[in-house]
Amino acid sequence: MKPVNLKSTLFPAVCLVFFTLFFQARKGLAVDENLLICRVPRYCGGQLIKFPFFMQELNEPRCGYPGFNISCRTNNTTAVISLRDGDYIIRDIFYQNQSFLVSKPDRDAVCSHSMRNISLPEDRFYLPENQRDMVLLFNCNLTTRAVAELSRYKVDCDESNTTLALLNGDPELSLASEYCTKSVLAPVAFIDGDQGVEDVVNRGFVLNWIASNCSICQSTGGKCGFDYK
Ligand SMILES: *[C@@H]1O[C@H](CO)[C@@H](O)[C@H](O)[C@H]1NC(C)=O
Ligand SMILES: *[C@@H]1O[C@H](CO)[C@@H](O)[C@H](O)[C@H]1NC(C)=O
Ligand SMILES: *[C@@H]1O[C@H](CO)[C@@H](O)[C@H](O)[C@H]1NC(C)=O
Ligand SMILES: *[C@@H]1O[C@H](CO)[C@@H](O)[C@H](O)[C@H]1NC(C)=O
Ligand SMILES: *[C@@H]1O[C@H](CO)[C@@H](O)[C@H](O)[C@H]1NC(C)=O
Ligand SMILES: *[C@@H]1O[C@H](CO)[C@@H](O)[C@H](O)[C@H]1NC(C)=O
Ligand SMILES: *[C@@H]1O[C@H](CO)[C@@H](O)[C@H](O)[C@H]1NC(C)=O
Ligand SMILES: *[C@@H]1O[C@H](CO)[C@@H](O)[C@H](O)[C@H]1NC(C)=O
Repeated sequence: MKPVNLKSTLFPAVCLVFFTLFFQARKGLAVDENLLICRVPRYCGGQLIKFPFFMQELNEPRCGYPGFNISCRTNNTTAVISLRDGDYIIRDIFYQNQSFLVSKPDRDAVCSHSMRNISLPEDRFYLPENQRDMVLLFNCNLTTRAVAELSRYKVDCDESNTTLALLNGDPELSLASEYCTKSVLAPVAFIDGDQGVEDVVNRGFVLNWIASNCSICQSTGGKCGFDYK
């Protein structure tokens, strides 16, 4: 009985089947150590962490894809993943459609001048198309005429310089950017007129991941993982 190999064009992942393991174990043969380790369910803040993700602190890179390392912080309650522009909190993982919900780690990201444009490792993650971008404009110096037209976009930040937030595509965007020195794009999944910009940005956005489809492997009782031999 040979393990089934599912080869992706992007990364070579491996599908190991349970009954192979039991078969080998009964016969007293060497049990595949990788399979045993990756079978143990891992949780961070109640969220199941499994392939293609793996837990950074447990040092089990063979259980996931490179770049899918999750750090479980704040007393093992917060799952954190690194994108190019910085760390994000994983709020939910949807294994069935290969996507996950993330948000900035700091509550006041919107008012922070150090905020950066999102930058993805494009060989791993991409933004689904059904989302909007919020444009945050920093260091705005509004003239009296502009104040009248743009004040409804003002973000309630505790500072002297004005910050504005508009949805990408808003007709007032080009006017607004004339008065500000820095602009940052923030993807958002939920647009709710009743919510402030900060809440909308804090609720986060969805990312899709690119990886081989492990549900085929898992439906046959297998466990997806890397075969480091
Ligand atoms: C972590 O948990 C310990 C014990 O439950 C608690 O004393 C501590 O304040 C917690 N730390 C944080 C950062 O939540
Ligand atoms: C977090 O989880 C790790 C691994 O499971 C464990 O060793 C550590 O004691 C936990 N830390 C806290 C604060 O619960
Ligand atoms: C994931 O691994 C990379 C490379 O080792 C590291 O730079 C990054 O900080 C890690 N991410 C997390 C969330 O720990
Ligand atoms: C993965 O494969 C399963 C079974 O063939 C299918 O139902 C599912 O939609 C696929 N998922 C993705 C993200 O392609
Ligand atoms: C995947 O499914 C979840 C839960 O149904 C949903 O919230 C999320 O938006 C979906 N992801 C994509 C990329 O559509
Ligand atoms: C306020 O905006 C000006 C330019 O309009 C900039 O030089 C200054 O650094 C900003 N202040 C802060 C606190 O960012
Ligand atoms: C803001 O704009 C006004 C009018 O254009 C200008 O006089 C003032 O110096 C500007 N302030 C800053 C901090 O750039
Ligand atoms: C963010 O991206 C936009 C559009 O690509 C660009 O105009 C802007 O300068 C970028 N902001 C920063 C801080 O790099």
